[in-house]
Amino acid sequence: MVYSEEKWISWMDELAENDIVIVDDFISDELYKTIMDFFSVIEENERLKKAGIGTSLDYQIKKEIRGDLIYWLDPKRDAPLTPFFNLMEELREKLGMYCFISLSGSEFHLAKYPTGSKYEKHIDQFNKRNNRQITVLIYLNKDWKEGDGGELKVSNEEGGFTVEPIAKRMLLFKSDVVEHEVLLTNVPRYSLTGWLLHQPASLGSLLS
Ligand code: OGA
Ligand code: NI
Repeated sequence: MVYSEEKWISWMDELAENDIVIVDDFISDELYKTIMDFFSVIEENERLKKAGIGTSLDYQIKKEIRGDLIYWLDPKRDAPLTPFFNLMEELREKLGMYCFISLSGSEFHLAKYPTGSKYEKHIDQFNKRNNRQITVLIYLNKDWKEGDGGELKVSNEEGGFTVEPIAKRMLLFKSDVVEHEVLLTNVPRYSLTGWLLHQPASLGSLLS
């Protein structure tokens, strides 16, 4: 993907100002297809696992709080996704240049929310995940329509707003301040989710 510097600057400005930015059509049709083809293989091979929630020293799986199935990505192993990782590297550079956020690692997973699942209100920095700086969400639901559910609800002082999880849309937000939840989904809901870290990913994939 080649974006003008003006575009990057406007996204980074918005993130700095509002703690969140939404970019429609962030990924190309080609990258969308690459990600979905990869996702299908992972799903067919039953490599999606229940996501966990870290609480103090415990590691728990609580479906009523968080019902998604995830697959942690590894840039070395998951070579078909190299174009995605390159794009995230570019994003990391721009955050450093325009938001003065210094980042030294990242962690990403595929996520599938089966019909009837949700993720209750939370922030992404907690316990052992306090090195998460920026949350990156890329939605993958091509035929999403009103009534399908699974919107992201973002809370703020004014109450908040919802974001539809439509294909190729990207969200960035500050992981330590933005409260959010995934509303109940009435259809399987797909996304690629990750975090840019101010320390290298260490235990990431072991914790959830
Ligand atoms: C998360 C999360 C939101 C979404 O994984 O922490 O809040 O829209 N995901 O998938
Ligand atoms: Ni979250």
